[in-house]
Formats: sequence, C-alpha cells, structure tokens
Amino acid sequence: MSFCPRIGALALLILGAACGANSESASTTPAEPFQPNQPTGDTTPLRTYAARRNVFVGSAIDRGFRYAGSDGVTFRSAMARQFNMLTAENDMKHDHIHPARDTYRFEPADSLVTFAESNGMRVRGHTLVFHSQLASWLTSGTWTKEEAKALLVDHITKVVSHYRGRVAEWDVVNEVLGDNGALRSGFWLDRIGPEYIELAFRTARAADPTAALFYNDYNIEGINAKSDSAYAFVRDLIARGVPITGIGFESHFQVGGVPSSLAANITRFAALGLKVHITELDVRLQLPSTAAQLTTQAQNYKDVVSACVSNSACDTVVFWGFTDRESWIPSTFPGWGEALLFDASYQPKPAFAAVQSSLK
Ligand code: XIL
Repeated sequence: MSFCPRIGALALLILGAACGANSESASTTPAEPFQPNQPTGDTTPLRTYAARRNVFVGSAIDRGFRYAGSDGVTFRSAMARQFNMLTAENDMKHDHIHPARDTYRFEPADSLVTFAESNGMRVRGHTLVFHSQLASWLTSGTWTKEEAKALLVDHITKVVSHYRGRVAEWDVVNEVLGDNGALRSGFWLDRIGPEYIELAFRTARAADPTAALFYNDYNIEGINAKSDSAYAFVRDLIARGVPITGIGFESHFQVGGVPSSLAANITRFAALGLKVHITELDVRLQLPSTAAQLTTQAQNYKDVVSACVSNSACDTVVFWGFTDRESWIPSTFPGWGEALLFDASYQPKPAFAAVQSSLK
C-alpha cells in the first residue's frame, strides 16, 4: 500500500498537493473519515504566517528527505509547503561531511541546500565543532595541539567556504558547556584547550564574512545555573571581539517542561546584542499519549514560539523534525515520542494550530 492514500483529507489540504492524483480527488473522496479531534479550519502553512512578520520557521531534515517514491514526494512537499528554513539534522556533521582526513563528502548536504534554494528557504548550518559525531579517523588519531588546531581550521575553512553565501547561519560550536556549566570535556577541548572556541569563530568568519555565527546548546532555555554560565561565556567572547552573532537554544522539552523564564532569558541574551534562535524545538511525551498530553504539548509549542517572536532578537524557530515518523526521540529516549507537529501519518496535531496562532 502506498503512503499517500493513508493521508486524510485535512492533512492533504495542509500539506499540499503531494500525491498527484490522490490530491486531485481529496476534496471529494476523503481517504479516511474526518477526524473530529483534529484541529479544523485554518490550513495556512506556517511559513505564510512567518513571512508576514519577517520570521523564519524551519525543520531539521534527514532520512525522510531521501525516502523513495511517493513517500519522498510527500515528505519533501510537506517540508517545502510549511517551512521557509531548514537544518541538516546530520548531513553537515563532521563524521558525515568529512569521513576521511583528505575526503569531504558534500553531496548529501548539497542536495538539502539545493532543495532549500529551489523552495525559497534559508539554511542553518549544523554544526562545525561538536563533541559528538566526529569521524573516527579524527578521534582515533594521535595529534599534537598544533596539529589539532590545524585540523579544526581546515575543517571549518573547507566546509564554510563550500557553502559561502548559501548557508545563512552556522552553529559554529555546539554543546560546549557541560551540565555543570564548565567547558565540556571532549576531543577539541582536550587537544587544544579553551582557545579552540575563539579559533573556531574566527576561522568561520574568515571563510564567510556574512554568515551569522552561533553558539548552540541545550538546557540553557530558562534562567538557571547552566544558562548563567552560557551568559558569562558569550559575554566574555563579545568582550574579546570574537565574532559571535547569536546563541541557539536547542529547546528539546518534555511536555509541561517549558521553563517559565524563557522569555526573560531571551531578553537578557538579546541585551548583549546577540540574536537568540530556537534551533531544535521538540516537546516529547511519555507513550502512550493522551488527549490531555497533546493539549499541553500544543500549549507548550505556543508558549515557546510566542516567547521567541515577541522579541525582535528572535526571528527563527526550527523544529527538530516535523512528523512523528522521523523524530530522533523514540530511539534516544525510550518510552518517549510524539514530539512534533504532525503525527506519523502527516496529520496535524493540536500543536500545529497552536504554532499557527503564535505566528499570526
Ligand atoms: C541528533 C540527531 O537528531 C540524531 O539523528 C543523531 O543520531 C544524533 O544527533 N542536539 C544536537 C543535535 O545539537 O545535533 C542532535 O541531533 C540532537 C541534540
């Protein structure tokens, strides 16, 4: 059975004409009975509302983008219809894009960037320097400090130059603070020392003079000990003239777990002259989900998107996927899931209308 006929009529209206003949007949021959518990009425894509207020609404994409046949058509069509920004969930990470010391493999990420350009979408580059998903040739090698610095510079220079003018903003350093707020131990810190961070930003700036340059992390969305450390960390970078444009709040929340201090936290980072972007938003539930959880989830999405767009420093919200068919959550947090705006059959969840309402 192909995927498209299982999509309900309302989903087809929202996702757009993704399935050829199926979509032609959607208004007269619903493939499924109308779902009374689905949000009704407004099928306006998120990007339409976002564009009206000059903000960017995006999704991370990965394997769904490459589904074969009608599955792929459905996925890409929905993506292009709803969003005016995308992030490569994995394709630009070190192990994907730089699989051997002298080998860069740009093709998968290139196809995402080309897709973005064909569909009027911005691209967030994710990520240049990360403690995780590093190629094994790098982590298993023995390097002096100077060699490690040269490897960092080579990687950033090659990747950022390749996408110069095509990637609007880079997560230059990702998750550099540990849960205790100190610099996180890992390959780059251990080989180079704290100066790797400044080196990364300056190298990225040299390779693309106009891209926005971000530090991205998690558990810094509310005002807490880690975000206090992040605040001191970025204030120090700014004081030393390091070219940082903004801070990314990943925003991987549990349902009911959006910090009430999110808006105030955005305000304090914005007061440093930084942009603040929501870069990886999802709101996970403990399975099986209940209607009450989905309602709370919708409110959580609404609160996060509203907190962002009500501050002029926050013009970008990127979700870490858009359909529950794709999310990283079930494999990373067993027992949890259903974290995104559309269910696994591309039906809009209550959270979809909630995000619409925040963007209106
Ligand atoms: C995750 C991806 O979603 C997974 O597919 C991959 O296996 C591991 O990485 N913070 C980040 C992202 O900055 O890069 C992570 O993405 C999720 C947490």
